[in-house]
Amino acid sequence: MQAQLLDVGRVRDQFPAIHQTINGYPLAYLDSAASAQRPEVVLQSMDRFYRHDNANVHRGAHALSDRATEGFERARENVRAFVNAASVDEIVFTKGCTESLNLVASSWGKANLREGDEILISGLEHHSNIVPWQLVADETGARLRSIPVTDSAELDLEELEGMLTERVKAVAVKHVCNATGTISPIREIVKMAHSVGAVAVVDGAQALAHVPVDVQALDVDFYAMSAHKVYGPMGFGALYGRKELLNAMRPYQGGGGMIKSVAIGEITYADPPGRFEAGTPHVAGAIGFGEALLFIGGIGVDAAAKHEDALMRKAESALRELGGVRIVGEAKNKAAIVSFVMDCAHPHDVGTVLDKYGVAVRAGHHCCMPLMRRMGVPATTRASFAAYSTVEDVDQLVSAVAHAKEIFS
Ligand code: ALA
Repeated sequence: MQAQLLDVGRVRDQFPAIHQTINGYPLAYLDSAASAQRPEVVLQSMDRFYRHDNANVHRGAHALSDRATEGFERARENVRAFVNAASVDEIVFTKGCTESLNLVASSWGKANLREGDEILISGLEHHSNIVPWQLVADETGARLRSIPVTDSAELDLEELEGMLTERVKAVAVKHVCNATGTISPIREIVKMAHSVGAVAVVDGAQALAHVPVDVQALDVDFYAMSAHKVYGPMGFGALYGRKELLNAMRPYQGGGGMIKSVAIGEITYADPPGRFEAGTPHVAGAIGFGEALLFIGGIGVDAAAKHEDALMRKAESALRELGGVRIVGEAKNKAAIVSFVMDCAHPHDVGTVLDKYGVAVRAGHHCCMPLMRRMGVPATTRASFAAYSTVEDVDQLVSAVAHAKEIFS
């Protein structure tokens, strides 16, 4: 174990929900990949919005609406700065990573895909980066293909090289795998996609809290984000889209706030990002997201990642030492996730025993059914780490897994 890399005690003090007991044990919250906990600053910013500034944005001619609009747009600037986008006009607010990916697949896909075209996704993908593309493939006649995954759950870039032809119009991959923690080499994949003129779409849900993201350095065309994976509110997220691509895209949904003018039979759409933000937005969600990014920015994504990496490595080696436990996904480059199966029990049963000992994990296919098949397992038990995770959480996990082994053997 390396020396303490960040003041975990101080970080933990800011998260009210992690200070509780479950079944008489201190809560070891190791399910941050499903949803991270929220710090006081995020909770307070959203509470403050509803108590003091509560009004609609971009619409009212009054002080509260002005304040709400100011908070909403400040949050957009926070997101822009966090991922180093060139302009706030490239940040579209959505209800999460899933909606961001659906927006790209639907709006960009329907306009740009034809019969005979190919969309490349990968064997690591979450269903949210598979199903939207299948839907648009079904509608346009394009073909969906999947980049193969190695035994260690890494993308096989040699295979990708062989799949890249002028037929490929989009390459859509995740940055960090939610089921195995694999960090994919996005810059390299983007270069490969661009070499055949394809757009590069990245699902960043699991990356934002654990890997520094610079959309300009990565040269991605679209980057999808979820607020709740990065200490922000649920039901909110964003899409980074390269300006010229967003400018050329039709709206994803119609409604208020996304037009310049409407006459029956003749509608002029607003410029991005408003064009893609129909209806009253989740203003408190935006404000909470902005605060969450300031919070993790204050800690430093790098410092958090080093801390989480040390915990992940400690958990992996302690679980291996127990015997009868196999780590699923042993990529060289991994972030904050330990997925495992036990010889003696199904992952769901393991998860249930762990909960009895106060350890919160996710068990299941993690919305990655193709990946589970590739790894030869129906499901895994997954422990995932965040900036507030501790060595004690890891010890509690390992001891609960040892109990599970005793119970089921
Ligand atoms: N995608 C989330 C997870 O991996 C829900 O748990």
